[in-house]
Amino acid sequence: MFLKGFVLLSLSICIWGTPLSRSLEVHESRDTIPEGFTLTGPASPDTVLDLQLALVSSDPDGLIEKLYDVITLSSANYGQYLSTDESNYFLAPTQESMTAVNEWLAENGITSTTIGSVGNWLSISIPVSQANAIFDADFSVFTYESSGAESIRTLSYSIPSSLKDHLDLVHPTVTFVPPRTQLPFNTVKLATVPSPAATPSACDNGYVDPACLQSLYSIPTTPATETSNYLVVAGYDDQYPSASDLELFLQYFRMDISDTTTYKVIEISGGEYNPNDPGVEADLDTQYTIGLATDVPVTFASVGESADDGTGGFLLTAQYFINSDTYPSVMTTSYGTNENEISSKVANNLCNTYAALGTRGISVLFASGDGGVSGSQSASCTDFVVTFPSGCPYLTSVGATEDFSPGTAASFSAGGFSNYFSRPSYQNSAVETYLEYLGNTYSGLYNASGRGYPDVSAQGVDFVNLCLSTILECRVEMFQPLFV
Ligand SMILES: *[C@@H]1O[C@H](CO)[C@@H](O)[C@H](O)[C@H]1NC(C)=O
Repeated sequence: MFLKGFVLLSLSICIWGTPLSRSLEVHESRDTIPEGFTLTGPASPDTVLDLQLALVSSDPDGLIEKLYDVITLSSANYGQYLSTDESNYFLAPTQESMTAVNEWLAENGITSTTIGSVGNWLSISIPVSQANAIFDADFSVFTYESSGAESIRTLSYSIPSSLKDHLDLVHPTVTFVPPRTQLPFNTVKLATVPSPAATPSACDNGYVDPACLQSLYSIPTTPATETSNYLVVAGYDDQYPSASDLELFLQYFRMDISDTTTYKVIEISGGEYNPNDPGVEADLDTQYTIGLATDVPVTFASVGESADDGTGGFLLTAQYFINSDTYPSVMTTSYGTNENEISSKVANNLCNTYAALGTRGISVLFASGDGGVSGSQSASCTDFVVTFPSGCPYLTSVGATEDFSPGTAASFSAGGFSNYFSRPSYQNSAVETYLEYLGNTYSGLYNASGRGYPDVSAQGVDFVNLCLSTILECRVEMFQPLFV
Protein backbone atom coordinates (compact mmCIF):
# COMPACT_ATOMS: atom_id res chain seq x y z
CA MET A 1 0.00 0.00 0.00
CA PHE A 2 2.70 2.39 1.03
CA LEU A 3 4.59 1.76 -2.16
CA LYS A 4 1.62 2.45 -4.39
CA GLY A 5 0.77 5.63 -2.54
CA PHE A 6 4.30 6.77 -2.95
CA VAL A 7 4.52 6.27 -6.68
CA LEU A 8 1.38 8.32 -7.12
CA LEU A 9 2.81 11.11 -5.02
CA SER A 10 6.00 11.33 -7.04
CA LEU A 11 4.04 11.20 -10.29
CA SER A 12 1.98 14.13 -9.23
CA ILE A 13 5.13 16.08 -8.45
CA CYS A 14 6.32 15.47 -12.00
CA ILE A 15 3.05 16.86 -13.32
CA TRP A 16 3.28 19.96 -11.16
CA GLY A 17 6.80 20.64 -12.31
CA THR A 18 10.26 20.00 -11.00
CA PRO A 19 11.10 21.18 -7.53
CA LEU A 20 13.44 24.12 -7.01
CA SER A 21 16.83 22.98 -8.12
CA ARG A 22 19.76 23.62 -5.89
CA SER A 23 23.41 23.55 -6.80
CA LEU A 24 24.88 20.16 -5.95
CA GLU A 25 28.35 19.17 -4.80
CA VAL A 26 29.88 15.70 -4.85
CA HIS A 27 29.73 14.47 -1.25
CA GLU A 28 31.21 10.96 -1.41
CA SER A 29 32.59 8.92 -4.28
CA ARG A 30 34.71 5.93 -5.26
CA ASP A 31 37.03 5.82 -8.27
CA THR A 32 36.47 2.18 -9.03
CA ILE A 33 34.09 -0.67 -8.31
CA PRO A 34 35.40 -2.44 -5.19
CA GLU A 35 37.12 -5.77 -5.71
CA GLY A 36 34.79 -8.74 -5.78
CA PHE A 37 31.83 -6.73 -7.11
CA THR A 38 30.73 -6.30 -10.73
CA LEU A 39 28.34 -3.81 -12.23
CA THR A 40 25.30 -5.71 -13.45
CA GLY A 41 23.35 -2.77 -14.84
CA PRO A 42 21.26 0.24 -13.91
CA ALA A 43 18.76 -0.18 -11.09
CA SER A 44 15.14 -0.10 -12.21
CA PRO A 45 13.86 3.49 -11.90
CA ASP A 46 10.77 2.31 -9.98
CA THR A 47 12.61 0.29 -7.36
CA VAL A 48 12.06 1.93 -4.00
CA LEU A 49 15.26 2.56 -2.06
CA ASP A 50 15.29 2.74 1.71
CA LEU A 51 17.96 5.33 2.40
CA GLN A 52 19.30 6.56 5.70
CA LEU A 53 20.42 10.13 6.11
CA ALA A 54 22.78 11.05 8.93
CA LEU A 55 22.62 14.66 10.08
CA VAL A 56 25.80 16.40 11.20
CA SER A 57 26.21 16.03 14.96
CA SER A 58 26.18 19.20 16.98
CA ASP A 59 29.43 18.64 18.85
CA PRO A 60 31.64 15.70 17.79
CA ASP A 61 34.80 17.34 19.17
CA GLY A 62 33.11 17.88 22.52
CA LEU A 63 32.09 14.21 22.51
CA ILE A 64 35.68 13.01 22.17
CA GLU A 65 36.92 15.48 24.75
CA LYS A 66 34.26 14.22 27.15
CA LEU A 67 35.12 10.60 26.39
CA TYR A 68 38.77 11.08 27.35
CA ASP A 69 37.69 13.09 30.38
CA VAL A 70 35.68 10.19 31.83
CA ILE A 71 37.93 7.28 30.81
CA THR A 72 41.37 8.67 31.62
CA LEU A 73 42.63 7.39 34.96
CA SER A 74 44.38 10.65 35.87
CA SER A 75 41.32 12.78 35.08
CA ALA A 76 39.30 14.27 37.94
CA ASN A 77 36.16 13.02 36.19
CA TYR A 78 37.39 9.46 35.72
CA GLY A 79 34.43 7.08 35.94
CA GLN A 80 31.84 9.90 35.96
CA TYR A 81 29.99 8.47 33.01
CA LEU A 82 27.32 10.42 31.20
CA SER A 83 23.61 9.72 31.22
CA THR A 84 21.85 8.74 28.00
CA ASP A 85 20.64 12.31 27.46
CA GLU A 86 24.03 13.83 28.19
CA SER A 87 25.82 11.59 25.69
CA ASN A 88 23.05 11.93 23.10
CA TYR A 89 23.40 15.70 23.22
CA PHE A 90 26.76 15.52 21.44
CA LEU A 91 25.51 13.25 18.64
CA ALA A 92 22.20 15.04 18.12
CA PRO A 93 21.95 17.52 15.24
CA THR A 94 21.27 21.21 15.80
CA GLN A 95 17.75 22.49 15.20
CA GLU A 96 19.18 24.43 12.27
CA SER A 97 20.45 21.23 10.60
CA MET A 98 17.14 19.44 11.13
CA THR A 99 15.24 22.33 9.62
CA ALA A 100 17.60 22.71 6.67
CA VAL A 101 17.48 19.04 5.73
CA ASN A 102 13.75 18.67 6.25
CA GLU A 103 13.00 21.78 4.17
CA TRP A 104 15.02 20.38 1.32
CA LEU A 105 13.27 17.00 1.61
CA ALA A 106 9.88 18.76 1.64
CA GLU A 107 10.81 20.70 -1.52
CA ASN A 108 11.20 17.31 -3.15
CA GLY A 109 7.98 15.91 -1.77
CA ILE A 110 9.82 13.51 0.54
CA THR A 111 8.80 12.76 4.10
CA SER A 112 11.36 11.39 6.50
CA THR A 113 11.10 9.31 9.64
CA THR A 114 13.51 9.85 12.51
CA ILE A 115 15.31 6.67 13.57
CA GLY A 116 15.63 6.35 17.33
CA SER A 117 15.71 8.98 20.03
CA VAL A 118 19.06 10.66 19.32
CA GLY A 119 17.66 12.32 16.21
CA ASN A 120 20.75 12.19 14.01
CA TRP A 121 19.46 9.56 11.58
CA LEU A 122 16.50 9.93 9.24
CA SER A 123 15.10 7.31 6.95
CA ILE A 124 13.46 7.98 3.60
CA SER A 125 11.98 5.70 0.94
CA ILE A 126 12.18 7.00 -2.61
CA PRO A 127 12.30 5.44 -6.08
CA VAL A 128 15.66 5.05 -7.79
CA SER A 129 14.67 7.67 -10.40
CA GLN A 130 14.14 10.31 -7.74
CA ALA A 131 17.28 9.29 -5.79
CA ASN A 132 19.35 9.61 -8.97
CA ALA A 133 17.89 13.07 -9.57
CA ILE A 134 18.18 14.63 -6.13
CA PHE A 135 21.61 13.13 -5.34
CA ASP A 136 22.98 13.34 -8.91
CA ALA A 137 23.71 9.64 -8.45
CA ASP A 138 23.74 6.57 -10.64
CA PHE A 139 22.16 3.89 -8.48
CA SER A 140 23.00 0.57 -10.11
CA VAL A 141 22.84 -3.12 -9.39
CA PHE A 142 26.17 -4.56 -8.25
CA THR A 143 26.70 -8.28 -7.88
CA TYR A 144 29.08 -9.82 -5.40
CA GLU A 145 30.67 -12.41 -7.66
CA SER A 146 31.40 -15.24 -5.28
CA SER A 147 27.89 -15.38 -3.81
CA GLY A 148 25.77 -13.81 -6.54
CA ALA A 149 24.24 -11.43 -3.97
CA GLU A 150 22.97 -8.21 -5.52
CA SER A 151 22.87 -4.77 -3.96
CA ILE A 152 21.95 -1.34 -5.24
CA ARG A 153 24.73 1.21 -4.79
CA THR A 154 26.19 4.24 -6.55
CA LEU A 155 29.85 5.14 -7.06
CA SER A 156 29.16 8.80 -6.32
CA TYR A 157 26.48 11.07 -4.95
CA SER A 158 26.05 14.77 -4.40
CA ILE A 159 24.12 16.91 -1.97
CA PRO A 160 23.11 20.56 -2.18
CA SER A 161 26.06 22.81 -1.31
CA SER A 162 23.81 24.60 1.15
CA LEU A 163 23.47 21.35 3.17
CA LYS A 164 27.19 20.62 3.50
CA ASP A 165 27.27 21.58 7.18
CA HIS A 166 23.97 19.86 7.94
CA LEU A 167 23.78 16.56 6.07
CA ASP A 168 26.60 14.22 7.08
CA LEU A 169 25.96 11.32 4.70
CA VAL A 170 23.48 9.26 2.73
CA HIS A 171 23.59 5.49 3.16
CA PRO A 172 23.87 2.95 1.61
CA THR A 173 25.56 4.60 -1.33
CA VAL A 174 29.33 4.17 -1.73
CA THR A 175 29.67 1.56 1.04
CA PHE A 176 30.22 -1.92 -0.41
CA VAL A 177 30.44 -4.55 2.31
CA PRO A 178 30.55 -8.09 0.88
CA PRO A 179 28.15 -10.60 2.39
CA ARG A 180 29.96 -12.64 5.05
CA THR A 181 30.89 -16.13 4.03
CA GLN A 182 30.62 -19.24 6.17
CA LEU A 183 33.27 -19.17 8.87
CA PRO A 184 36.11 -21.51 7.91
CA PHE A 185 36.70 -23.04 11.31
CA ASN A 186 39.39 -25.60 11.48
CA THR A 187 37.88 -28.23 13.73
CA VAL A 188 39.86 -31.19 14.91
CA LYS A 189 38.31 -34.05 16.77
CA LEU A 190 40.37 -34.90 19.81
CA ALA A 191 41.54 -38.48 20.02
CA THR A 192 40.18 -38.81 23.52
CA VAL A 193 37.39 -36.91 25.12
CA PRO A 194 38.52 -35.71 28.52
CA SER A 195 36.27 -36.75 31.33
CA PRO A 196 35.14 -33.95 33.59
CA ALA A 197 37.34 -35.29 36.38
CA ALA A 198 40.43 -35.01 34.21
CA THR A 199 39.86 -31.31 33.69
CA PRO A 200 40.52 -28.50 34.37
CA SER A 201 43.97 -28.29 32.94
CA ALA A 202 46.37 -25.44 33.15
CA CYS A 203 47.23 -25.33 29.45
CA ASP A 204 49.01 -28.69 29.65
CA ASN A 205 46.42 -30.67 27.68
CA GLY A 206 47.55 -29.04 24.45
CA TYR A 207 44.36 -27.06 24.18
CA VAL A 208 42.86 -23.96 25.73
CA ASP A 209 40.07 -24.16 28.27
CA PRO A 210 38.86 -21.68 30.90
CA ALA A 211 41.30 -23.00 33.54
CA CYS A 212 44.18 -22.45 31.13
CA LEU A 213 43.13 -18.84 30.51
CA GLN A 214 42.52 -18.24 34.22
CA SER A 215 46.05 -19.30 34.99
CA LEU A 216 47.64 -17.52 31.98
CA TYR A 217 46.04 -14.16 32.78
CA SER A 218 45.31 -14.41 36.51
CA ILE A 219 41.57 -14.21 35.88
CA PRO A 220 39.78 -14.48 39.23
CA THR A 221 37.24 -17.26 39.74
CA THR A 222 35.36 -15.34 42.43
CA PRO A 223 31.80 -14.64 41.30
CA ALA A 224 30.79 -11.12 40.34
CA THR A 225 28.13 -9.66 42.62
CA GLU A 226 26.96 -6.51 40.80
CA THR A 227 23.96 -7.83 38.91
CA SER A 228 23.25 -4.57 37.07
CA ASN A 229 26.53 -4.82 35.13
CA TYR A 230 25.94 -7.06 32.20
CA LEU A 231 27.94 -8.07 29.20
CA VAL A 232 26.70 -8.32 25.63
CA VAL A 233 28.06 -10.84 23.13
CA ALA A 234 27.02 -9.62 19.68
CA GLY A 235 26.25 -12.34 17.15
CA TYR A 236 25.57 -12.06 13.43
CA ASP A 237 24.63 -14.16 10.41
CA ASP A 238 21.94 -16.24 12.11
CA GLN A 239 24.52 -17.83 14.40
CA TYR A 240 23.04 -18.86 17.73
CA PRO A 241 24.47 -20.26 20.94
CA SER A 242 23.06 -23.42 22.46
CA ALA A 243 22.10 -23.55 26.14
CA SER A 244 22.64 -27.32 26.26
CA ASP A 245 26.11 -26.99 24.72
CA LEU A 246 26.87 -24.37 27.36
CA GLU A 247 25.62 -26.64 30.15
CA LEU A 248 27.92 -29.41 29.00
CA PHE A 249 30.81 -27.00 28.62
CA LEU A 250 30.36 -25.84 32.21
CA GLN A 251 30.12 -29.43 33.45
CA TYR A 252 33.48 -30.15 31.86
CA PHE A 253 35.34 -26.92 32.30
CA ARG A 254 33.79 -24.94 35.16
CA MET A 255 32.90 -27.60 37.69
CA ASP A 256 33.08 -24.93 40.39
CA ILE A 257 30.05 -23.01 39.06
CA SER A 258 26.47 -24.01 38.44
CA ASP A 259 25.90 -25.72 35.09
CA THR A 260 22.56 -23.95 34.87
CA THR A 261 24.32 -20.61 34.43
CA THR A 262 22.94 -19.27 31.19
CA TYR A 263 22.43 -16.18 29.03
CA LYS A 264 19.62 -13.92 27.95
CA VAL A 265 18.88 -13.30 24.29
CA ILE A 266 17.90 -10.04 22.64
CA GLU A 267 16.94 -9.93 19.00
CA ILE A 268 17.99 -6.85 17.06
CA SER A 269 16.43 -5.86 13.76
CA GLY A 270 15.08 -9.17 12.62
CA GLY A 271 17.66 -11.23 14.47
CA GLU A 272 16.35 -14.61 15.50
CA TYR A 273 17.22 -17.27 18.02
CA ASN A 274 17.02 -20.99 17.44
CA PRO A 275 18.85 -22.86 20.22
CA ASN A 276 18.53 -26.09 18.22
CA ASP A 277 20.65 -24.70 15.43
CA PRO A 278 23.80 -23.51 17.15
CA GLY A 279 26.76 -22.02 15.30
CA VAL A 280 30.39 -22.53 16.24
CA GLU A 281 31.24 -18.83 16.61
CA ALA A 282 28.19 -18.08 18.77
CA ASP A 283 28.77 -21.18 20.92
CA LEU A 284 32.46 -20.37 21.34
CA ASP A 285 31.93 -16.70 22.21
CA THR A 286 29.18 -17.48 24.69
CA GLN A 287 30.86 -20.45 26.35
CA TYR A 288 34.11 -18.58 26.95
CA THR A 289 32.44 -15.37 28.07
CA ILE A 290 30.30 -17.19 30.63
CA GLY A 291 33.11 -19.61 31.46
CA LEU A 292 35.48 -16.76 32.36
CA ALA A 293 33.36 -13.85 33.59
CA THR A 294 32.08 -15.78 36.59
CA ASP A 295 28.45 -14.89 37.37
CA VAL A 296 28.47 -11.76 35.18
CA PRO A 297 25.03 -11.62 33.53
CA VAL A 298 25.52 -12.25 29.81
CA THR A 299 23.18 -11.27 26.99
CA PHE A 300 23.54 -12.67 23.50
CA ALA A 301 22.45 -10.08 20.92
CA SER A 302 21.29 -11.80 17.76
CA VAL A 303 21.50 -9.35 14.86
CA GLY A 304 19.58 -10.55 11.83
CA GLU A 305 21.08 -11.56 8.54
CA SER A 306 18.01 -10.06 6.97
CA ALA A 307 18.99 -6.80 8.67
CA ASP A 308 20.74 -5.61 5.54
CA ASP A 309 22.09 -2.33 6.84
CA GLY A 310 24.97 -2.12 4.38
CA THR A 311 27.59 -2.49 7.12
CA GLY A 312 27.19 -6.15 8.02
CA GLY A 313 24.88 -5.23 10.91
CA PHE A 314 27.21 -2.90 12.82
CA LEU A 315 25.15 0.21 12.13
CA LEU A 316 21.93 -1.40 13.36
CA THR A 317 23.67 -2.73 16.47
CA ALA A 318 25.19 0.65 17.32
CA GLN A 319 21.85 2.39 16.70
CA TYR A 320 20.11 -0.14 18.93
CA PHE A 321 22.33 0.51 21.94
CA ILE A 322 22.69 4.26 21.43
CA ASN A 323 18.89 4.56 21.42
CA SER A 324 18.48 2.37 24.48
CA ASP A 325 18.15 3.53 28.07
CA THR A 326 19.61 0.34 29.45
CA TYR A 327 22.92 -0.82 28.21
CA PRO A 328 25.69 -3.23 29.06
CA SER A 329 29.02 -2.48 30.73
CA VAL A 330 30.81 -4.40 28.01
CA MET A 331 29.94 -5.25 24.42
CA THR A 332 32.17 -7.77 22.69
CA THR A 333 32.08 -8.63 18.99
CA SER A 334 34.03 -11.33 17.17
CA TYR A 335 33.15 -10.00 13.75
CA GLY A 336 34.59 -7.31 11.54
CA THR A 337 35.11 -6.25 7.98
CA ASN A 338 37.61 -4.25 5.93
CA GLU A 339 37.84 -0.51 6.41
CA ASN A 340 37.95 0.31 2.69
CA GLU A 341 34.56 -1.35 2.14
CA ILE A 342 32.88 1.25 4.34
CA SER A 343 32.78 4.90 3.32
CA SER A 344 34.91 7.09 5.55
CA LYS A 345 31.84 9.11 6.54
CA VAL A 346 29.90 6.01 7.61
CA ALA A 347 33.01 4.74 9.44
CA ASN A 348 33.39 8.06 11.18
CA ASN A 349 29.73 8.17 12.16
CA LEU A 350 29.92 4.65 13.63
CA CYS A 351 33.16 5.42 15.41
CA ASN A 352 31.60 8.47 17.06
CA THR A 353 28.68 6.30 18.12
CA TYR A 354 31.14 3.92 19.83
CA ALA A 355 32.68 6.99 21.49
CA ALA A 356 29.23 8.03 22.73
CA LEU A 357 28.70 4.52 24.14
CA GLY A 358 32.10 4.95 25.80
CA THR A 359 31.00 8.15 27.53
CA ARG A 360 28.18 6.12 29.08
CA GLY A 361 30.75 3.71 30.48
CA ILE A 362 30.36 0.94 27.92
CA SER A 363 33.59 -0.84 27.01
CA VAL A 364 33.35 -1.71 23.33
CA LEU A 365 35.56 -4.62 22.23
CA PHE A 366 36.07 -5.86 18.67
CA ALA A 367 38.26 -8.63 17.25
CA SER A 368 41.06 -7.27 15.08
CA GLY A 369 40.53 -9.70 12.18
CA ASP A 370 41.77 -13.00 10.80
CA GLY A 371 43.75 -12.11 7.71
CA GLY A 372 47.03 -10.80 9.18
CA VAL A 373 48.03 -7.78 7.09
CA SER A 374 45.47 -8.75 4.45
CA GLY A 375 42.59 -7.66 6.65
CA SER A 376 39.54 -9.42 7.97
CA GLN A 377 40.18 -12.64 6.02
CA SER A 378 43.24 -14.21 4.48
CA ALA A 379 43.53 -12.87 0.91
CA SER A 380 46.14 -11.72 -1.54
CA CYS A 381 46.88 -8.03 -1.35
CA THR A 382 49.43 -5.46 -2.41
CA ASP A 383 49.05 -2.76 0.23
CA PHE A 384 48.23 -3.92 3.74
CA VAL A 385 44.47 -4.03 4.31
CA VAL A 386 42.95 -2.34 7.35
CA THR A 387 40.03 -3.82 9.28
CA PHE A 388 36.93 -2.11 10.60
CA PRO A 389 35.92 -1.18 13.21
CA SER A 390 39.38 -1.86 14.72
CA GLY A 391 40.73 1.31 13.09
CA CYS A 392 38.36 3.38 15.25
CA PRO A 393 40.34 4.77 18.20
CA TYR A 394 37.40 4.80 20.63
CA LEU A 395 37.11 1.05 21.12
CA THR A 396 39.44 -1.74 22.16
CA SER A 397 40.70 -3.91 19.33
CA VAL A 398 41.75 -7.40 20.37
CA GLY A 399 44.28 -9.57 18.51
CA ALA A 400 45.37 -13.18 18.96
CA THR A 401 48.56 -14.80 20.20
CA GLU A 402 49.53 -18.45 20.19
CA ASP A 403 51.95 -20.67 22.12
CA PHE A 404 50.66 -19.55 25.49
CA SER A 405 52.40 -17.14 27.84
CA PRO A 406 53.76 -14.70 26.85
CA GLY A 407 53.03 -16.05 23.37
CA THR A 408 53.77 -14.79 19.91
CA ALA A 409 51.38 -13.15 17.44
CA ALA A 410 49.15 -15.77 15.84
CA SER A 411 49.86 -15.83 12.11
CA PHE A 412 46.26 -15.02 11.15
CA SER A 413 45.76 -12.20 13.66
CA ALA A 414 45.13 -8.87 11.95
CA GLY A 415 46.96 -5.71 12.85
CA GLY A 416 47.94 -2.47 11.19
CA PHE A 417 47.17 1.21 10.87
CA SER A 418 43.93 2.89 9.88
CA ASN A 419 43.65 4.98 6.71
CA TYR A 420 40.61 6.81 8.11
CA PHE A 421 41.51 7.57 11.70
CA SER A 422 44.72 9.28 12.72
CA ARG A 423 46.84 8.10 15.61
CA PRO A 424 45.27 9.05 18.93
CA SER A 425 47.67 10.64 21.40
CA TYR A 426 47.26 7.77 23.86
CA GLN A 427 49.20 5.61 21.35
CA ASN A 428 52.06 8.00 20.71
CA SER A 429 54.72 6.37 22.79
CA ALA A 430 53.83 2.74 22.01
CA VAL A 431 53.50 3.35 18.27
CA GLU A 432 56.63 5.47 17.97
CA THR A 433 58.65 2.77 19.72
CA TYR A 434 57.16 0.16 17.40
CA LEU A 435 57.81 2.20 14.23
CA GLU A 436 61.40 2.77 15.28
CA TYR A 437 61.82 -0.96 15.79
CA LEU A 438 60.24 -1.64 12.39
CA GLY A 439 62.49 0.84 10.53
CA ASN A 440 62.01 0.69 6.75
CA THR A 441 60.55 -2.79 6.74
CA TYR A 442 57.21 -2.72 4.88
CA SER A 443 57.40 1.06 4.40
CA GLY A 444 54.88 2.27 1.84
CA LEU A 445 52.60 -0.67 2.49
CA TYR A 446 50.87 0.82 5.50
CA ASN A 447 49.88 4.25 6.79
CA ALA A 448 52.17 5.12 9.68
CA SER A 449 50.09 8.16 10.66
CA GLY A 450 46.96 6.10 11.31
CA ARG A 451 45.53 4.62 14.49
CA GLY A 452 47.42 1.41 15.20
CA TYR A 453 45.64 -1.78 16.22
CA PRO A 454 45.13 -4.16 17.98
CA ASP A 455 45.32 -2.60 21.43
CA VAL A 456 45.72 -5.87 23.30
CA SER A 457 46.27 -9.49 22.31
CA ALA A 458 45.70 -12.77 24.08
CA GLN A 459 45.80 -16.50 23.37
CA GLY A 460 43.45 -17.07 20.43
CA VAL A 461 44.28 -20.52 19.09
CA ASP A 462 43.35 -24.10 19.97
CA PHE A 463 40.22 -23.38 21.97
CA VAL A 464 38.16 -26.30 23.04
CA ASN A 465 34.42 -26.08 22.78
CA LEU A 466 31.58 -28.47 23.08
CA CYS A 467 28.78 -28.72 20.62
CA LEU A 468 26.77 -31.70 21.69
CA SER A 469 23.50 -30.73 20.11
CA THR A 470 24.96 -30.15 16.66
CA ILE A 471 26.60 -33.52 16.32
CA LEU A 472 24.53 -35.68 18.63
CA GLU A 473 27.55 -37.09 20.35
CA CYS A 474 29.84 -35.72 22.95
CA ARG A 475 32.99 -34.61 21.34
CA VAL A 476 35.55 -31.96 21.86
CA GLU A 477 36.59 -29.77 19.02
CA MET A 478 39.77 -27.83 18.73
CA PHE A 479 40.01 -25.02 16.33
CA GLN A 480 41.47 -21.76 15.42
CA PRO A 481 38.77 -19.16 15.87
CA LEU A 482 38.10 -17.19 12.73
CA PHE A 483 37.78 -13.89 14.49
CA VAL A 484 38.89 -14.14 18.07
C1 LIG B 1 46.70 7.92 6.12
O1 LIG B 1 46.01 8.20 7.31
C2 LIG B 1 45.56 9.52 7.47
C3 LIG B 1 44.85 9.58 8.79
O2 LIG B 1 45.68 9.31 9.79
C4 LIG B 1 44.66 9.93 6.34
O3 LIG B 1 44.31 11.28 6.48
C5 LIG B 1 45.33 9.69 4.99
O4 LIG B 1 44.41 9.94 3.96
C6 LIG B 1 45.78 8.24 4.92
N1 LIG B 1 46.44 7.97 3.66
C7 LIG B 1 45.97 7.10 2.78
C8 LIG B 1 46.81 6.90 1.55
O5 LIG B 1 44.96 6.48 2.94
